Amino acid sequence: MSKIAVWCRHKEDNIIGIGPNIPWHVSSDFKRFQRLTKHKALLVGQTTYESFPNRTLPNRKIYILTFEQDYQVSDPDNHFVIPLETVKDINEELYISGGASIYKLMMEKLMPDFIVDSVYMGDLQEGLTGNPVSITPSVTIMEQAYEKISDAFLLDNVETTIWAKKGGTLDETTLAHLKNAIYNY
Ligand SMILES: NC(=O)c1ccc[n+]([C@@H]2O[C@H](COP(=O)([O-])OP(=O)(O)OC[C@H]3O[C@@H](n4cnc5c(N)ncnc54)[C@H](OP(=O)(O)O)[C@@H]3O)[C@@H](O)[C@H]2O)c1
Repeated sequence: MSKIAVWCRHKEDNIIGIGPNIPWHVSSDFKRFQRLTKHKALLVGQTTYESFPNRTLPNRKIYILTFEQDYQVSDPDNHFVIPLETVKDINEELYISGGASIYKLMMEKLMPDFIVDSVYMGDLQEGLTGNPVSITPSVTIMEQAYEKISDAFLLDNVETTIWAKKGGTLDETTLAHLKNAIYNY
């Protein structure tokens, strides 16, 4: 089953967060993420999981990576802490949804089949506290080991392109879902 990385990064510096927050508010980007992942399984790190309102996203299964022993999830029927070694054995379409440490791990170890690469062209929100979180190492791997398989789609200052692993086998059903979620907004 396909593995898909989904991110929205700031142009040039590849920042995806400041502290726990995403430093822009683009409603259509959030809605695209919702369309991409509704009724799907997500993989996130603990920081990203805790940034979701009430630590949940309805209608999704969520796999969480954490080093915290006995970590308590908010919805034990749908949220599961898993060890890193078992991610490769997840036998369902999996949306790798951040943050930076999880993208880096997965780009290095798993190499997802697809990347939905959204690039925000606007200015970062000012006044947020915390360190900038960048995904430049993941973008470097993408640029070397992946190729663009769609035109760039521009909406509300966010440009979205689908990339696929060079030499990989494309699952046409997954690709159709990605295109549908991106183009039919
Ligand atoms: N723009 C976007 O598309 C987007 C998407 C998602 C997130 N974000 C942003 O990204 C930022 C968070 O990124 P982040 O890198 O700081 O945090 P993160 O990747 O969400 O989570 C980091 C945590 O994951 C756990 N973890 C990492 N590697 C692990 C491993 N090998 N095994 C088990 N657990 C592991 C650790 O938990 P412990 O605490 O136990 O060490 C670590 O603290 C936030 O600003 C968020 O808003 C942006």
